[in-house]
Amino acid sequence: MCDRESIGQTPPMLDALVYESHADPRLTDAELEVILIGSRVRNARRGITGALLKRDVRIVQMIEGPADEIDRTFAAIAASPFHRHVQVLRRASGLERIFDRWHMGFFDFQSLHVRGATTATWIDTLPELQAHAATNPVLATLLERWTEITSDVR
Ligand SMILES: Cc1cc2nc3c(=O)[nH]c(=O)nc-3n(C[C@H](O)[C@H](O)[C@H](O)COP(=O)(O)O)c2cc1C
Repeated sequence: MCDRESIGQTPPMLDALVYESHADPRLTDAELEVILIGSRVRNARRGITGALLKRDVRIVQMIEGPADEIDRTFAAIAASPFHRHVQVLRRASGLERIFDRWHMGFFDFQSLHVRGATTATWIDTLPELQAHAATNPVLATLLERWTEITSDVR
């Protein structure tokens, strides 16, 4: 017999991808803010969520959503002239959504620092992320890479 309740509760199985890149040094905070505003509108329409982490020119971004929308969104991201050396670190499928409230969360290491917070604080404020990393290899890669990029301040 069909158990309707458990089917209704089954979370959608999604793809997720994490890449890193080097921002064009001329990319200003204001330009990036405009990019993020547009990204959030498109991502919301496409069922994409994720987080973008930046330290100086180093960018690491994770996107998650339906496989075809990941393809389309990543192709557009990779084609942007605002960054270079775009390199996929990991992609996986059959995952549950992690960043369910963020159509594109943004963490700028510099401004966190200015406010007196460290990168460890960022992770500490989201303890559930560490727990999810055990079952989500794309999230694990995002956190590992970010830890490497910020290792000098630990
Ligand atoms: C670092 C970075 C991250 C981006 N993230 C996204 C994103 O999450 N979603 C998105 O739709 N566009 C994102 N973009 C913008 C895309 O590169 C592209 O400009 C936008 O999707 C519009 O593409 P289109 O002109 O092909 O429609 C990002 C751009 C940069 C430089």
